[in-house]
Amino acid sequence: MKWTVGNIVKRATEILKERGSKSPRLDAELLLVHSLKLRDRVELYLNFDRPLTEREVEDYRQLVKRRAKGEPVAYITGKKEFFGFEFKVRKGVLIPRPETETLVEEALKLIKGKKGLKVVDVGTGSGCIAITVCKLTKGENTIIGVDVSEEALKVAKENVENLKCKVHLIRTSLLNGLKGPFDAIISNPPYVAAGDKRVEREVLKYEPKIALFAGKSGLEFIEKLVKESHKKLKEGGFLALEFGEGQGKEVKELLSEAGFKEVRIIKDLSGKERVGIGVK
Ligand SMILES: C[S@@+](CC[C@H](N)C(=O)[O-])C[C@H]1O[C@@H](n2cnc3c(N)ncnc32)[C@H](O)[C@@H]1O
Repeated sequence: MKWTVGNIVKRATEILKERGSKSPRLDAELLLVHSLKLRDRVELYLNFDRPLTEREVEDYRQLVKRRAKGEPVAYITGKKEFFGFEFKVRKGVLIPRPETETLVEEALKLIKGKKGLKVVDVGTGSGCIAITVCKLTKGENTIIGVDVSEEALKVAKENVENLKCKVHLIRTSLLNGLKGPFDAIISNPPYVAAGDKRVEREVLKYEPKIALFAGKSGLEFIEKLVKESHKKLKEGGFLALEFGEGQGKEVKELLSEAGFKEVRIIKDLSGKERVGIGVK
């Protein structure tokens, strides 16, 4: 069989579909873009009849094999798009999720138009939240990204450098040792309950547990974050945090109990309650 861009994508799509990928065509295309070092998927479509060399076929086959075993595309290609920016990722750091864009959008609504704010992103991971806020507010605020994971902070540092923005990265747990007061605290914290059967197998196998799990209830991190944040925010400052399916009611209660005002819960694009906001 003479392989071309078009027919090899078709074949890889069939294989990945059989192996349970939920987005086999997209996966097959992204892997070929990466393998052939193309700029984007448009370039694939413009070169559908281009024949592949034996070397190119073999390289692509190796990537498809990894994906077929369940490894996320972003770990294979080493990158993931978030809010239109390209973030480096690798094992040891959570892959940015599209639902987190809702958290960033809501935080930006409250930050934009202001200058000189002190903002902290708790559990920064790849740095996707802190860096996006920094880019979209033109570096007019002091932005800090904290994480307890050294591995995550290494990746965040690379992203800060690549995307050329000023984000201070600090290794600590929650807000420990950070000198407030802050105008805004933003966080996509770990919020999955230990043993939650809804977590996909490939997420469990490949992504860092420390980024996912928060005790028996899934709310242990959020409980601490909400209390600590209230202590470290300025009057009028806000906490915006992401949470998991079915946690909206508890998050609303936790925010109110801690003394936050104007507490609201926002849905993501798929209509699920996803973000909690409270003002001190
Ligand atoms: C759900 S991930 C979010 C990563 C990134 N902000 C994103 O949205 O893609 C949670 C992050 O919190 C970090 N984390 C876990 N426990 C922490 C703690 N006690 N203090 C600070 N960060 C913590 C994890 O290492 C992980 O990077």
